[in-house]
Amino acid sequence: MHRSIYIETYGCQMNFADTEIVNGILREQGYELASEVDSADAIFMNTCAIRDNAEQRIYGRLSNFEHLKKRNPHLVVGILGCMAERLRANLLENNSLVDIVCGPDEYRKLPALIDQAFEGEKGIRTQLSRVETYDDIVPLRTDGISAWLSVMRGCDKFCTYCVVPYTRGRERSRSLEGVVQEVGGLIERGFREVTLLGQNVNSYIDGENDFADLLIAVADVDPGLRVRFTTSHPQDMSDRLIEAIAGHENICSYIHLPFQSGSDRILELMNRTYTRDHYLNLVRKIRTAIPDVALSTDVIAGFPTETEEEHAETLSLMEEVRFDGAFMFKYSPREKTRAWKMGDDIPEDVKGRRLEEIIDLQRRISYDINKNWIGRTEHILLEGPSKRSEDEWMGRTGTNKTVIVPRGDFSVGDTIAVRINSATSATLFGTEITNAASEAA
Ligand code: SAH
Ligand code: SF4
Ligand code: F3S
Repeated sequence: MHRSIYIETYGCQMNFADTEIVNGILREQGYELASEVDSADAIFMNTCAIRDNAEQRIYGRLSNFEHLKKRNPHLVVGILGCMAERLRANLLENNSLVDIVCGPDEYRKLPALIDQAFEGEKGIRTQLSRVETYDDIVPLRTDGISAWLSVMRGCDKFCTYCVVPYTRGRERSRSLEGVVQEVGGLIERGFREVTLLGQNVNSYIDGENDFADLLIAVADVDPGLRVRFTTSHPQDMSDRLIEAIAGHENICSYIHLPFQSGSDRILELMNRTYTRDHYLNLVRKIRTAIPDVALSTDVIAGFPTETEEEHAETLSLMEEVRFDGAFMFKYSPREKTRAWKMGDDIPEDVKGRRLEEIIDLQRRISYDINKNWIGRTEHILLEGPSKRSEDEWMGRTGTNKTVIVPRGDFSVGDTIAVRINSATSATLFGTEITNAASEAA
């Protein structure tokens, strides 16, 4: 009888895409995937190490498994992903519960590790690779509307606060052909949207082809497919990429463009390699080429030595750009990074207050922007029931805005024309204005 495996995923979309790769590898080897933690022979957590609180969450969850292991001493517990890569043997040494530690570039070794663990032997694999892209692995996805595809792995940017270059290793890209083929297969299975993923997709390179070429190749597979991508680095956002988005109906007018700080001195300390001016000029260029574009961003509050004036520059950049949305974080020192040596000198309460000011400002801006959408007609792709009610659908606009509509006679995967009637800072509410599902994206 084959054993069953249960995997929980934390962290970024790339980790979720990796879990599908792991599932693909395990299924190939004859393992079954358990849908519930209680019935599994092995439990894995695909983990994130980006900030300390991400890791604390994993430890908390791990302690929940203690009683399961008491009940079933043969239960195998494994840590995958970025925390596995960061902490390596420490995870085994400090936690008797853990049997397997496997980093992001070693997933092909998982079946062997699991077999050993069922024999009672703990195992660890955390070698990083310069070439592994899992290009030949077919990720195991449940049927759906929206698929995530990692097109590159790793990061060479070494922003001084960031652990990713250490947990994911060097930058490398999948083949353009492999990505296009996978997208073709997804369309046949009924997927209507793909999101191309990489820590810095702008660095994608396969021979002569850069990310603009890849994006166009994917968009050309089927004009009815919605194409998204994330994350873009402000240093490497090329004119060709902007033109590609502007020139293709089915490439969504939505760019996630983290700025991190509005202060040139802090940007330099972060090794972000651009200035405030460069960032603002880039935003202007993007908005000229793609007038309806939506922009989102990442911001860090309380980087080492950040002054009140520099924090105010972050707020003023946000006022100037008016992002549609933002992911906002308190600085969290990470061992091994260059910023670790700069200390963590901004007191917790100051960091907290700065973050709150950032969040309050963004909420106000998001609400202002969303209010302006009232009365507009938008095409949304229906993704599933809304969180609140089975009688409503949740869909998204090309600009990545969440819209709630009454269920009507529509099905998941339909694209419908909607009139926006009301808005909050996070969500739009609308009603369909045609009865026939429209093809336009
Ligand atoms: N590659 C992407 C995102 C990586 S992680 C990029 O460069 O934008 C997502 C976000 O987490 C980062 O953009 C940053 O805002 C935040 N982040 C990364 N390390 C952090 C740290 N040590 N403390 C707080 N926030 C951090
Ligand atoms: Fe981290 Fe910077 Fe790479 Fe993003 S670009 S993953 S923030 S090092
Ligand atoms: Fe976290 Fe690793 Fe993603 S650290 S954000 S899971 S690349």
